[in-house]
Amino acid sequence: MAPLMPTDATVLVTGAAGGIGGAVAARFLDGGWRVAGVDIRPTSLAHDRVLPILADIADVAQCRAAVQQAVQWAGRLDAVVNSAGVWTEGASADTTEAEFDRVLGVNLKGLYFITSAAIPHLAATSGCVVNLSSDAGLQGNAGAAVYCASKGGVSILTKALALELAPHGVRVNAVCPGDVDSPMLRGQAAVFGGDDRQAYLDRLLAGYPQGARARFVQPAEVAELIWFLCQPAATPITGANLAIDFGLSAGIV
Ligand SMILES: NC(=O)c1ccc[n+]([C@@H]2O[C@H](COP(=O)([O-])OP(=O)(O)OC[C@H]3O[C@@H](n4cnc5c(N)ncnc54)[C@H](O)[C@@H]3O)[C@@H](O)[C@H]2O)c1
Repeated sequence: MAPLMPTDATVLVTGAAGGIGGAVAARFLDGGWRVAGVDIRPTSLAHDRVLPILADIADVAQCRAAVQQAVQWAGRLDAVVNSAGVWTEGASADTTEAEFDRVLGVNLKGLYFITSAAIPHLAATSGCVVNLSSDAGLQGNAGAAVYCASKGGVSILTKALALELAPHGVRVNAVCPGDVDSPMLRGQAAVFGGDDRQAYLDRLLAGYPQGARARFVQPAEVAELIWFLCQPAATPITGANLAIDFGLSAGIV
């Protein structure tokens, strides 16, 4: 059977040292792709088809340099998965300018400028972009207005870029996970869960329509959806915000 993608197909994954980004990198490696893994922290991915790139995506110059480094290494770019992100929550009356800028700087500005730098290379391969939005990009989360603003921005810029880049053959989609069992979620519970982290996690699960059967999404489950979105079988899909959240964003239970 003919391969679905060229053997030198290359994905740039931001947040590659994180839970979802790491699972995405592993899934694409399994599929035979090369992976340029961008993160502000060193990744533990050791593979002859991985280029680790240390970069702070809140800095536009570092976004451009990271994309350039990936393309110089691989000679091509077929997909970008924007997974780098940070969580924040708290009363809006107390939000500092620094915290607002930190979250928007990574989740929205960084994602946008990584994508912006990648456009000419993706146009050359008829490639695609998958953005990590969230259920918080589709609906409000009480106490998380800044994070929601960043992910709402990701969801709508996904649609705008899908329209802009369609004539160039580039597809742009977002996945919108509910709570994912990752370092981010464990960090959330540690920072914002007070004395009882388990109670914080239990409160999140209590919002799911599965009731006692509720569980968190696994990073590998998100990675599988992202992998599919980057395959030729997903050619008709662009401008979509695909929930992967056990129905959390589907409506009121
Ligand atoms: N975990 C969840 O419950 C959940 C749910 C919905 C959406 N998401 C989104 O999915 C994405 C991945 O989340 P995760 O669960 O893997 O989190 P994670 O914390 O495990 O990984 C995020 C990665 O982003 C990197 N990062 C942070 N700031 C950076 C910067 N300035 N420059 C470069 N890299 C930076 C971190 O070092 C980390 O490795 C995020 O965008 C997140 O908002 C997560």
